[in-house]
Amino acid sequence: MSAGRYAQITGWGMCVPDHVVTNEDLACTVETTDDWIYSHTGIRQRCVAQGERDTTASLATRAGRNALLVADLMPSQLDLVIVATVTPEYAFPATACCVQDALGASKAGAFDLSAGCSGFLYGLSLATHLIRSGEANHILIIGSETLSRITDWKDRNTCILFGDGAGAVVMSACPQPCGIMATVLGSDGSGRDALVLPAGGSHCPPSIQTVSNGDHFIKMNGREVFRFASTIIPKATEDVVARAGWRASDVALVVPHQANARIIEAAAKRLNLPMEKFLVNIDRYGNTSSASIPIALCEAIDANRIRAGDKLVLVGFGAGLTWAAAAIEWGMPMPLKPQSAPRRLLANARFGYATLRSLVTRAFHRAYNGVLGPEGQENWRGHLRERVDRWRHAHITPRHKKE
Ligand code: COA
Repeated sequence: MSAGRYAQITGWGMCVPDHVVTNEDLACTVETTDDWIYSHTGIRQRCVAQGERDTTASLATRAGRNALLVADLMPSQLDLVIVATVTPEYAFPATACCVQDALGASKAGAFDLSAGCSGFLYGLSLATHLIRSGEANHILIIGSETLSRITDWKDRNTCILFGDGAGAVVMSACPQPCGIMATVLGSDGSGRDALVLPAGGSHCPPSIQTVSNGDHFIKMNGREVFRFASTIIPKATEDVVARAGWRASDVALVVPHQANARIIEAAAKRLNLPMEKFLVNIDRYGNTSSASIPIALCEAIDANRIRAGDKLVLVGFGAGLTWAAAAIEWGMPMPLKPQSAPRRLLANARFGYATLRSLVTRAFHRAYNGVLGPEGQENWRGHLRERVDRWRHAHITPRHKKE
């Protein structure tokens, strides 16, 4: 760690799909009721991705743009883009690479991070250490999910819980002692069967059999996850508070992973903290996995629940089983002065240019490969001549043959 170098959140943004599915909507397709879902989970509705417009990368890109606008940072200033997700755009390449390209973050490295619903906090911890050690100055961390695409909408044990969305933060170096003061990461892989997507990976590659068994959908032991979460949320909170050198009573706001309102209430009771100190927005979004904490953070800021100097705890758990927590001393002046209209316009023009550049570059890649074939640059003149000759032969009838 470099002395006098800290890492703080300077930008934040979120994006959720427009399409909303209420508990009543679900009650039309599975045997359940609004009353059961709300009393057992605290959920009233969730946002669900629609068609090609809402994918993990597109939601992440929109959340990332919003975070960059707040941070007043150019995409080219980013050193790294991390996307935490369990529903990546593709198995590979990384969703983060799609986002890096769409944002025009031309100098950034990019990779995905898989740590279940704790993924965003794992990313935050990693980014903190990269910034504090001097390896990076600005890092974009995004939690983005389209869980609706791996949800069995006929399984009432799981389909009531999950929703789609993305949340992002920009983290930057700062000289004042504020920002992320401590983090805690943990894992117990022996509990991995409690929350799993069984098929599609190396253990069980995709086949007609796996699809017909519904093994591409989330499988969950709800009670086991509930028991684990109710213990680990208070424990991780206590650990990170101790690591930061605080007392639990110093904490102004806890932003927990939004999996079940009853889990949050149980944690509040164990920590002996009032529920007013917990941000709960699960009623409108359900469980959006790695996106839930950054989305809740954005909503806490919008609701003026965070002031400069406040001590916050972000805490989550998820598939793995994993858990993570971050102790944050909020460094940014709140409420933040809104950006001037011309600056905003310029930033949006930059995003528009990045989109255009991406389209043109990808079209160029396709055309280049189409002309040159798999051999690439080797003997490209020969390949080009051969292709032109073939085309001429097929399309231009030689004069002497016409006559
Ligand atoms: N609507 C109506 N009834 C339902 C139902 C639904 N959607 N889902 C289950 N039930 C029924 C069960 O069949 C069971 O009936 P039975 O007693 O006749 O067998 C009864 O309700 C109780 O089921 P149970 O599984 O014990 O409910 P629960 O109180 O444990 O709540 C969860 C279920 C899933 C809401 C809860 O266990 C939970 O939230 N677990 C954590 C999940 C989680 O956080 N996952 C993500 C981690 S990142």
